[in-house]
Amino acid sequence: MAEKPISGSYPQTRLRRPRRQRWSRRLMRETRLSVDDLIWPLFVCPGEQRQEPVASMPGVNRQSIDFLVEAVGEAVSLKIPAVALFPATPPELKTSECNEAVNPNNLVCQAVRAVKRAHGAKIGIICDVALDPYSSHGQDGLVRDDYVVNDETVEMLCRQAVVQAEAGCDVIAPSDMMDGRVGAIRAALDLAGFQGVQIMAYAAKYASAFYGPFRDAVGSAGNLGSGDKKTYQMDPANADEALREVALDIAEGADSVMVKPGLPYLDIVARVKQTFGVPTFAYQVSGEYAMLSAAAANGWLDRDAAILESLLALKRAGASGVLTYFARDAAKLLGSV
Ligand code: PBG
Repeated sequence: MAEKPISGSYPQTRLRRPRRQRWSRRLMRETRLSVDDLIWPLFVCPGEQRQEPVASMPGVNRQSIDFLVEAVGEAVSLKIPAVALFPATPPELKTSECNEAVNPNNLVCQAVRAVKRAHGAKIGIICDVALDPYSSHGQDGLVRDDYVVNDETVEMLCRQAVVQAEAGCDVIAPSDMMDGRVGAIRAALDLAGFQGVQIMAYAAKYASAFYGPFRDAVGSAGNLGSGDKKTYQMDPANADEALREVALDIAEGADSVMVKPGLPYLDIVARVKQTFGVPTFAYQVSGEYAMLSAAAANGWLDRDAAILESLLALKRAGASGVLTYFARDAAKLLGSV
């Protein structure tokens, strides 16, 4: 005989009962968001005392290294654990062979050195490994016969990872989706003596329409033109394939993995975390930032509440932490100081 389901025991069982008082809601809460969950992506541009607003990301600037160092100082005082630095490379330094990516004195390497000099071990520095900030065609890899080639690109990525580690980067985050890059980068870092540098793999990164504002910020949108990244980034229709991507990156030595974008891909975050139980980060990407910001600017959403709810939702799905352009706002809202 089937047991009677508990929910059938109304009026004895009333799920609203514990929701009635604030103290009780606090006790019953299953998921908590804290400043420890936040990674703040920042855009750096050449020059001094420069701050250029990114039109499609209200409140976000590209900033020169001096201002960047100040912003990271703010992150330190808010107790944000890490920042992710992205360079807006001047167009004249972008080439089809992406040589600037492996220049030990490129913008992001200079930025890493300056941030390390100013803030030392008080905050972690994460750097993307991918060629799109340096390519005249806007693709993440080298192009041969109209195709983004894998293995030749991976060789460049290894060199790029090593120059970034030499500059003082703590975490290398390959965001290119080439096959085999995590293992190759791990080997290159170890060979160069950087056994202690972590790899956070953009393991399940989708060919998403939500990266548009980021491409404006780093100035790669125009270069990419009508091109797309569908031959290497994942099809938004696929979920099982994400698990294969993550499994490979873990096997190749990734210390943590990432799912990107965030909110539209909560199912992927949940499955990755449940399947592998490894540190799993979610990237609340530029398009998600733009959507929430635009609605809030129109008075259609309560900005602060929407920020905290979206980040909490990512944590509830299983994220260990979130890369978010709202990191500073969220840290303040969470009352971290
Ligand atoms: C570069 C890179 C992208 C993002 C992070 N690293 C853009 C892309 O893949 O086209 C997107 C981040 C965002 O939209 O906030 N490979």
